[in-house]
Amino acid sequence: MKMALKKLIILVLFIILQLSILVFSAPPPLEIDWTVARIPKIVDGCNRAWNVVAVYPTSFDKNGKELIPLPKDVAFPAPTLIVEPEQVVRVLIRNRLDEPTTIHWHGLLMEKTGYSDGVPTITQCPIQNNSNFLYEFKANKIPGTHWYHSHYKPQRVDGLYGYIIIKETIEQEGIDLNGNKCPYCVLVSDWYHLPAQELLDKYRCDAQIGAVTPEPVPHSVLLNGIGGGYCGTNNATKPANSCNDKDYDKKNITCVLSNEVYKFQRNKKYRLRILNSGALVLYYFSIDDHDLDVIEVEGMRVKSNKKIKLLPLHAGQRYSVIATTSNTKTDNFWMRLQTSKECIRPNTSAEEWGMLVEEIRAIVSYSITPGTPTTSPWILGKLNCTDLDYSLLSPDKLYLINYDTPLKPPSGPANKEFNFGIYMEIYDEKNKSYLTVGEIYDTAGNRKIYDDNIFGFTNNSIQYTIDNYNKYGSRIYNVYKYQNLNFYVLDKERDVIDVTLKSSDNISHPIHLHGHFFWVMEYTRGPGEPNEIYEKPIQRDTVTVPPKGIVKIRFQVDNPGVWACHCHIEWHVEVGMMAQFVELPAKVTKLSPLNNKIYVDKGKNTVNLTTWNELCVDIHHSMASCPTRNKTITKT
Ligand code: C2O
Ligand code: CU
Repeated sequence: MKMALKKLIILVLFIILQLSILVFSAPPPLEIDWTVARIPKIVDGCNRAWNVVAVYPTSFDKNGKELIPLPKDVAFPAPTLIVEPEQVVRVLIRNRLDEPTTIHWHGLLMEKTGYSDGVPTITQCPIQNNSNFLYEFKANKIPGTHWYHSHYKPQRVDGLYGYIIIKETIEQEGIDLNGNKCPYCVLVSDWYHLPAQELLDKYRCDAQIGAVTPEPVPHSVLLNGIGGGYCGTNNATKPANSCNDKDYDKKNITCVLSNEVYKFQRNKKYRLRILNSGALVLYYFSIDDHDLDVIEVEGMRVKSNKKIKLLPLHAGQRYSVIATTSNTKTDNFWMRLQTSKECIRPNTSAEEWGMLVEEIRAIVSYSITPGTPTTSPWILGKLNCTDLDYSLLSPDKLYLINYDTPLKPPSGPANKEFNFGIYMEIYDEKNKSYLTVGEIYDTAGNRKIYDDNIFGFTNNSIQYTIDNYNKYGSRIYNVYKYQNLNFYVLDKERDVIDVTLKSSDNISHPIHLHGHFFWVMEYTRGPGEPNEIYEKPIQRDTVTVPPKGIVKIRFQVDNPGVWACHCHIEWHVEVGMMAQFVELPAKVTKLSPLNNKIYVDKGKNTVNLTTWNELCVDIHHSMASCPTRNKTITKT
């Protein structure tokens, strides 16, 4: 008896010890050493390599010289990062492009590390070529599906994007990650056959008074970085090997067949993590014959009161859905990401940019020997280019309680309200050029001009002054037209902020706010449509403002930093559709690195890590000047 009691006590102590390890042991920091370079890679159905902006683990030869891997050994899209909640992540970026870069961690709150948010001229100077920079941050405490991408000019469009996933800590429904791999991830991206900067210059400079400039239309679509062969209604033949000539765009290629095969088994549940990393297009995700349950919207767990068939995702957005398999006799199904002409500039002509591919397909197979599916798509119906109906979704209380995440927005009237207008305009640069300009700004207030002493990030005792364009004589990212910085100061802790986003444009704009998940409070799909007010709003970080629609979002002042708020259509943000919130400026200046050794090298590699202000040699975020206006330009 005595013996048994002793054993029991030992057992209990052992269990307590195990539990305390589980609860208290923070995961060790994740240290990453990456190189960014342009690597020639064949990524779509054209048998031709494009210059992809790739990220790969740095490696060295015996003499300490950096090795450049073979294109086939470079992952594209960029590697998937899978991290623990609250894990400290340090990513050393070695820039070996022939241009600057920065990396933004989209969906990561950057609490106390606003200096690692990666927005050039807002939170750091761009990482110059042959310089290195260390990003350091703590992963959010709540699991979720996020991503990282270049925030430097339109560089991400050329390929710099990948997932960063914060792992579940409690067993979840649905087959999901497999170690460090995400076999059920679905990453869709627009792919262009011209360098993004070239497309941007044309888009910006080819403006005509009286007409809104059509955005560059992608030539192809990639799924997980591959756009295999071509398919299509008119059975388009595969284009010539090079895909280099104008011919390519006239071959009526309406559909892309990726090489991806998702292996499913019968009577199981799968968690698919879908991300649209694209530059322009809104995609509709679906799997033929499968209903979907939405469980996550950008890191926030949700409950859905109805199964859905089609899931719209605009640029920058993420969802997790559960697909349940059945006993059906069919073995193979199409997974589809459909585009819609209606959701991009309606008058965009094929000749101008190329054709919009109708969809990209992948195979979902229940069989060990996958075959070609013969299934048909769900009917798309009338598309209104909006987000998934918010009234279907509510916060998943049982789940969120574990992460002490609020289940409701702060109630009562807001302490501050902003009315942001979203516009596309043509700017007449007096006798020089007509420019395409995007705008997002407080229609009730005055945009502010930079003042040298307001705020800045201090790191490693180096002061980086936000938007220090005066000093360097460069024009800043946004608000080209007025030469001011379109920022709004939020200086009272706990203040409730409402932002009403009102679009006067006829295409939809996915608006992303850095540093927060905001509540989507109200949604108007367009003129004459009812204003939907949600009883149980959900949180996310990128919301689609429908064509001529109105969206009201709410967040609370609790995260010191300077947070960009911009359209995630790359062409729009690059012509100025960006505002900034300066949140708790007094605290911003006091942020200090999580680890003081931030710029110290890791030993074996001799690299001179660049200090912050060395990166500011040349902010160079000014835009290329446009060719002088051609007198014959037509006024419409
Ligand atoms: Cu995903 Cu400011 O970006
Ligand atoms: Cu936009």
